[in-house]
Amino acid sequence: MNSPKILDGKSVAATVLDECRAETAALLAKGIQPGLAVVLIGEDPASKVYVGSKARTCAELGFHSLKIELPATTTQAELLNVVRALNADPAIHGILVQSPPPAHIDEEAVIRAIDPRKDVDGFHPENVAKLVLEDPSGFVPCTPAGCMKLLEVSGIITNGAEAVVVGRSMIVGKPLALLLVAKKSNATVTIAHSRSKDLPAICRRADILIAAVGRPEMVRAAWVKPGAVVIDVGINRVEDPSKKSGYRLTGDVAYQEVAPLCSAITPVPGGVGPMTIAMLMKNTLQAARQIQ
Ligand code: GUN
Repeated sequence: MNSPKILDGKSVAATVLDECRAETAALLAKGIQPGLAVVLIGEDPASKVYVGSKARTCAELGFHSLKIELPATTTQAELLNVVRALNADPAIHGILVQSPPPAHIDEEAVIRAIDPRKDVDGFHPENVAKLVLEDPSGFVPCTPAGCMKLLEVSGIITNGAEAVVVGRSMIVGKPLALLLVAKKSNATVTIAHSRSKDLPAICRRADILIAAVGRPEMVRAAWVKPGAVVIDVGINRVEDPSKKSGYRLTGDVAYQEVAPLCSAITPVPGGVGPMTIAMLMKNTLQAARQIQ
């Protein structure tokens, strides 16, 4: 049985946050306090947990942090007014509207309403264009940025590697594919999804396999080339009566059977998840620097 390298996102994120802490102190010394506003609409329990940990991390770093919790009945017009007020607030450098919003909200229109200079999620079309153009003044979406950082600090070579990204979301799959194919990384990239023909065969080609589909334990041992690097972006809640909460977290990869085949793999929790928050803090610092 092979023992894979476990890509410890918690410890890499702690290092990134140490760098953020130092940069925050430098900005504070210049009279600038980085400010992040996180907007949550509705009561989704997973989103509440994410928003809570984002606000907590802001406080730990010395950021100004605004958590705006709106009822599920909030209208599109009311939400747009909140976004506009945050755009105009000089104490706020970063704005994040937690996804997914309730079904009656037009998320695309909300994203377009965010000032691109404050769009620390990197979802605004202006920032998407900058990602395509490899323009570093844009914001890179946090989860893909976290995956790339984890690969980089773990010494995983992307140059010339065959990378398969399973999932084509605007939050993870598409931007991650762009980062992998960019000149900094030079991977050969395939984007696969639920309609791809023979998904297991496509995945088996991968030197670097990234699962970002939101389906618990979908990626099985037979999908993985021996020696591959596997990055599991999924954070799925599955019922587990043996847990006090009634659920446990599991990734998109069947970890127990896949891990022995890999050269390296991210655990869930403790892999990509903590990296996302760390990169959000980094993006907020970038916004605070650039907006002056
Ligand atoms: N929901 C899950 N991940 C994210 C993210 O990175 N940003 C936002 N805004 N919502 C999310």
